Amino acid sequence: MDEIPGLVQLTRLPNSARADLLAGSPDVDPLLAVTTLRRERPDLSPELASAVVAQRGYQAKARATGALPEGGPWLTTEVGLEQASRPEVAAHRAATLAAAGVRSVVDASAGIGIDARGFLEAGLAVVAIERDPVTFEVCRANLGHAVELFGTEARVENADSTQVGVITAAVDSLPSPVAVFIDPARRGTHRPVDGSRSRSERDRQLWSPPWSFVDELRRQFEWVAVKAPPGFAPDAPWKAEWVAVGNSVVECALYSPHASRREARGAIILGDDVEWHLNFDIDAQRPVPSGLRDFLAEVHPVARRTGAIAEICLNAPDLAPVTESSMWLTADSPAPTSPALRWFEVLGSGSLDQLTAMCRDQGIDRVALKTLESKRSQREMRARIGLPDGDEFAIVAIDGFIDHILVRRMRQR
Ligand SMILES: C[S@@+](CC[C@H](N)C(=O)[O-])C[C@H]1O[C@@H](n2cnc3c(N)ncnc32)[C@H](O)[C@@H]1O
Repeated sequence: MDEIPGLVQLTRLPNSARADLLAGSPDVDPLLAVTTLRRERPDLSPELASAVVAQRGYQAKARATGALPEGGPWLTTEVGLEQASRPEVAAHRAATLAAAGVRSVVDASAGIGIDARGFLEAGLAVVAIERDPVTFEVCRANLGHAVELFGTEARVENADSTQVGVITAAVDSLPSPVAVFIDPARRGTHRPVDGSRSRSERDRQLWSPPWSFVDELRRQFEWVAVKAPPGFAPDAPWKAEWVAVGNSVVECALYSPHASRREARGAIILGDDVEWHLNFDIDAQRPVPSGLRDFLAEVHPVARRTGAIAEICLNAPDLAPVTESSMWLTADSPAPTSPALRWFEVLGSGSLDQLTAMCRDQGIDRVALKTLESKRSQREMRARIGLPDGDEFAIVAIDGFIDHILVRRMRQR
């Protein structure tokens, strides 16, 4: 708990003083680091020195995963970092709202301010509301820095968005059209006493603010955007876009009908830019399975989990699922190339023992196991095959297909 007053002290330093303190590299031994820092800087209180050392650790962790924005000391709390949007996802959300004509945003659950920073960078004016007093201080410091960087307008309020009139007053204070954005907390603001990550809440009424409050915003305001978890099942009036970064599906982004120019349902993969996007019809029929052909395509989780897989097949007539229930697609040639499809050449199919023999005959000494559709455990299959994990070759288990399949991964791009 000592960290909290220290963190607040840190937020109140001028940006340049904060940047100087945080510029040091992270320390393997935080206790020793605090002692060393206090020897170098006797003017720092023990709480402030501990906060600096903790922040250096978070910065290093975040730099490694790309979790915090580049270009500046970005303060966080441990939970704030876990709950924050990824900077590229925040940028995409801001671009979506800007493309729909929005000029300002009320971020009604601002956290450490990553989404709010994305709105500012896109040139939108922002009121950021955060209920937790420490997170509010962190958000205010972060957005102060973002305002300096982008020259846009931001105000940060320590308030409860669910209180009558709080969001409306913020909306009324901004240049219109104004969007209300909300990213409800799905975990507590503190870690459990054992230090583990707090559990994500599945019951949407237990989110903070609860789903009923969020859903009501769509009736009250014309432009509303929401961050929901990837497994969220949206009701019809909401437009929904499932967002992946790399191979992970990170959220289901919801928009009121006016807040996005996209279609009702979409899936997107973000890299440095938009790598792939597909609007899809949730009622699109899966094509008839074709059995195994010469090439197999592993479908990106964002398409597998959302039903976009049927739309992918409709757009590429040669492509079909291997079986009725499988998410693996197959074709006579490895086409189309797409970030949503990872292609493999089929080398053979048969029992695990037959494929193991085939590997031996062909000098294959490492294989990956693709067992998402298998009832057998990876461990059991690995023991049976007796080969270590690899990257180029794989053995694939397909739901509803008796044989296993040996494949070679095709390099894309
Ligand atoms: C998931 S985090 C937001 C993360 C943020 N989008 C970001 O990228 O940094 C949710 C935040 O909402 C705050 N919150 C929860 N209920 C609130 C309420 N009724 N009013 C204002 N803030 C609230 C929590 O304290 C938490 O910091």
